Amino acid sequence: MKEHALFLSLGFSYGDTKLIEEAEQFITLFERIEEKLSKFSLHSDPHEVAKFNVEVYQAATSIWAYKRKVLGLTLNCDIRSNNYPLLLDHTSREAAYFANRLRDLNEGKLQPLPETIIKENVFFLRIMADHSKFIGHLLDPSERKLVAQAREFSHDFDQLVFQALDLDSMRPQSETVPILDQFLDQNRVSVKSLRAFKKTASELIDECKIKSNIHPLLADHVFREADRFLHIIDMFDESLMANQ
Ligand SMILES: [Fe+2]
Ligand SMILES: [Fe+2]
Repeated sequence: MKEHALFLSLGFSYGDTKLIEEAEQFITLFERIEEKLSKFSLHSDPHEVAKFNVEVYQAATSIWAYKRKVLGLTLNCDIRSNNYPLLLDHTSREAAYFANRLRDLNEGKLQPLPETIIKENVFFLRIMADHSKFIGHLLDPSERKLVAQAREFSHDFDQLVFQALDLDSMRPQSETVPILDQFLDQNRVSVKSLRAFKKTASELIDECKIKSNIHPLLADHVFREADRFLHIIDMFDESLMANQ
């Protein structure tokens, strides 16, 4: 969330000082939260953790509202910026996801259900499809090969999103172990290859070897989100095997 605020702040026009200031306030807010987080450990009082979760939930909700406000201003052409509407929507979906996850944790929902497996994959596959599109559109147009690769990833993930939506509408009959297992395996293959692509892009950007409008931290950010998704796929796979 802190990095989202940074990316948005960098994308505004020079004159949109009010919006830039608001973004900067979110950077400070999430920095404070990170500091508090570093003081927690496995031995922390669960009540303190629950209280902290509520505080972070509120911060996530308020950055969600800010992103939706900026989306509205953008779609009404009240502002012109380099923050794509899809990026604003994307980062707001991530904020909502984070807030909901914190609420679930406070309600004691820890174990993944078959239903969650499909829905979580729909969410993350769409996130991956969006990332591929952002990369493709923020690379310099002269990076033809990389732009083409990004477009292929975008297409691949769009297909996976539709497959996941099909499985979702076939619920609960689609919630069989073999189908879910195959679903996770197929997604894993594509996410691994996208993660490798992001890793390479991130290194090339760091070394200033390619031309783009991609902030090095944004390249790393999308890499970490792919890594997170892979982690979640593995966790679901383990829970599927354990329930078999
Ligand atoms: Fe993000
Ligand atoms: Fe993202």
